[in-house]
Amino acid sequence: MLGDWKQIELASHGDDRGSLISVEAQRHIPFAVKRVYYIFGTKAGVRRGFHAHQNLKQLLIAASGSCKVEVDDGNKKANFKLSSPKQGLIINNLVWREMYDFSPDCVLLVLASEWFEEADYIRDYSQFKLAVERSR
Ligand code: TYD
Repeated sequence: MLGDWKQIELASHGDDRGSLISVEAQRHIPFAVKRVYYIFGTKAGVRRGFHAHQNLKQLLIAASGSCKVEVDDGNKKANFKLSSPKQGLIINNLVWREMYDFSPDCVLLVLASEWFEEADYIRDYSQFKLAVERSR
C-alpha cells in the first residue's frame, strides 16, 4: 500500500467498569509494530510533523483529548479530527503529515512499523514531491 491513509474504527470492549481497546498488529492494522510512542503536553497553537516516511507506516490514535491531522500524498490532501480513542488513522509511507489543534489533554498514541531511523524521514516538501514522482 503506497501513498494513502485509512480511518479505522477500533472495537471497544466496554462494561460497567469502563472501556478497553486492543489493537492487534497484522490483524486490525496491516503491519507489524516495531515501535510505540506518544505525543502529549503539546503547547497551544503548535503544529508538528512536517515530514513523510520512505517506508514507515503508522497508526495514530488520540488516546485522550483530540487533535487534527492533515495528510497529503503529493496530489491530494485530507484532514481528519481524532477525538475518540475508538478512532484510528492509518498513514502509509510516502504521505506528508502535519498534526495540529491539539487539545491540552491530548495524548496522541502512535504505533509504527519501524524503529526510529532518521534516514527514513523526508523532511523537505520538495524532496517529498520528488520521492512521490519516483515511486510512480
Ligand atoms: P519529531 O520527529 O520532531 O516529531 P514530529 O515529527 O512527530 O513532530 O521528534 C521529536 C524528537 O524526538 C526528535 O529529536 C527525534 C526524537 N524521536 C525519537 O528519538 N524517537 C522517536 O521514535 C521519535 C518519533 C522521535
